[in-house]
Amino acid sequence: MRTDQDAPWWRSAVVYQIYPRSFADGDGDGVGDLPGIRERLDHLAWLGVDALWLSPIQPSPMADNGYDISDYCAIDPVYGTLGDFDRLVEDAHARGIRVVLDLVANHTSDAHPWFQQARSARDHPRRDWYWWRPPRPGLVAGEPGAEPTNWGSFFSEPAWTYDPATEEYYLHLFSAAQPDLNWENPAVRRAIHRVARWWLDRGVDGFRMDVVNLISKDPALPDGAVRRGEEYGDLGRFVVDGPRVHEYLAEFRREVFGGREDVPLLVGEAPGTSLEEARCYTHPDRGELDMVFHFEHVRVDRGEFKWDLRPFSVPDLRRVLATWQVGLADCWNALYWDNHDQPRVVSRFGDAVRHREASAKTLATVLHLQRGTPFVFQGDEIGMANHPFATIDDFDDIESLNHYRRSVALGVPPEEVLASLRAMSRDNGRTPMQWDAGPAAGFTTGVPWRPVNPDHTEVNVAEQRERPGSVLHHYRDLIRLRHEEPAVVEGAFALLAADHEHLFAFTRESEDATLVVMANLSGEPVALPDDVREAAAGSELLLGDAGDDGALGPWQSRVHRRTRARGGR
Ligand code: NOJ
Repeated sequence: MRTDQDAPWWRSAVVYQIYPRSFADGDGDGVGDLPGIRERLDHLAWLGVDALWLSPIQPSPMADNGYDISDYCAIDPVYGTLGDFDRLVEDAHARGIRVVLDLVANHTSDAHPWFQQARSARDHPRRDWYWWRPPRPGLVAGEPGAEPTNWGSFFSEPAWTYDPATEEYYLHLFSAAQPDLNWENPAVRRAIHRVARWWLDRGVDGFRMDVVNLISKDPALPDGAVRRGEEYGDLGRFVVDGPRVHEYLAEFRREVFGGREDVPLLVGEAPGTSLEEARCYTHPDRGELDMVFHFEHVRVDRGEFKWDLRPFSVPDLRRVLATWQVGLADCWNALYWDNHDQPRVVSRFGDAVRHREASAKTLATVLHLQRGTPFVFQGDEIGMANHPFATIDDFDDIESLNHYRRSVALGVPPEEVLASLRAMSRDNGRTPMQWDAGPAAGFTTGVPWRPVNPDHTEVNVAEQRERPGSVLHHYRDLIRLRHEEPAVVEGAFALLAADHEHLFAFTRESEDATLVVMANLSGEPVALPDDVREAAAGSELLLGDAGDDGALGPWQSRVHRRTRARGGR
């Protein structure tokens, strides 16, 4: 088959995300680690993925499970040593798997020496590496309301914390243990460039940049509008896709990637970004990011506020996905359903109770067949579902616990808050990987740091590996299809059945072939509308069960291929 030799490697790649704490524990302390990952590389090689992305592995007080880094160029002892890291990279590369790291550079930990120095004195040369401001004029420092702006952090607290030693506040868009770096300062930017180059020189193949569209703030730091019923002002306008973000990213690419032969991957996490901004981040002529994780499809079941759950409809979900497919036709998409910050996809958009396997497979099909690079989160390849958390004591994540505390203090009934945590908490994606039906699901020989989902006796890698037709085999088939069929990589996207209540159907058209993808995202059987049947007429079935060619059963999906006659359709 024809492949485009000049295309960057990540266009035909599937990336597998590892959350190191929960993937595989090599030393029995109950927390996953680098030797554990190394022992499981054959799983990734069998699956056929091209790269793995590791959530942070650097030293951290773990206020936010590693997204609070206290030393950028080292490994946290709980995960191992730099030697373990080098061995992991070597073994991954030997299997043809690239290694991508998380680069958390919007903020550091408050334990990072840079912050320790910055907070030591107002005139310390590193003071300006972070955002410091005096209390609001006329108010007493440290009292509620004296914060320099009315912004709320993403973790249900004020976005400013008072530091009595130097009598100023510092800014943190996340927890108080994660002070924001001041990217306005060129010395900060140079320090981050050095960190990135250090890892590339060590053999890594790219970065996933954490909340990268928040690194530039409106330096005027204005107050945000306070919506009815809310405590804090909205900071979105002043920090999301901020005034200098494009300049910073173009500079990063120039300074860090310039002159490298095998061009690394640069994918940016971009909460709240718009399609228009994403086009700027990812347009090939601009030299910023290769692709972004936008959040629009993971907001179709929420209101303005993350915890404000709403029922969603297939038309809403499809509209968002199709809009991004078409809108980034000359750019590139990062495709994902979930990650360590989201509930499990099969519990959220699928049906984990009545159609777990079928819905996990169908959701995988529509993800992998869109144009872009698919990111598979650990455990999705076996259809792992949300954990049956019972009480608030079962939760661990800082965002979930802060939200609970805050909401209950504001008078929301605890059961109501718990219901939204069960559906949305980040803890759902962080339970240990289910390798087998044994104790602790084969994740550890010790006591796992988070409870293993009791369904691991049925839902696990060992069982599915032996069973053709399982979710695991389906993921492998999808990944193989991407590697073998150029239309999966490059084909143009066009929506079919645009008004259907339950279907997500589309074509991917390349020079040589048209793929027709049809998926029933519901538990009801559906008759195929004319445009879908016509598109598939005379085609070969590549994936899925043949069955009745005029209909799809509950959560059923199929991929067809039609060879294109030269010069015609
Ligand atoms: C996004 C990360 O994915 C999330 O886990 C973290 O809490 C925030 N950024 C802050 O780093």
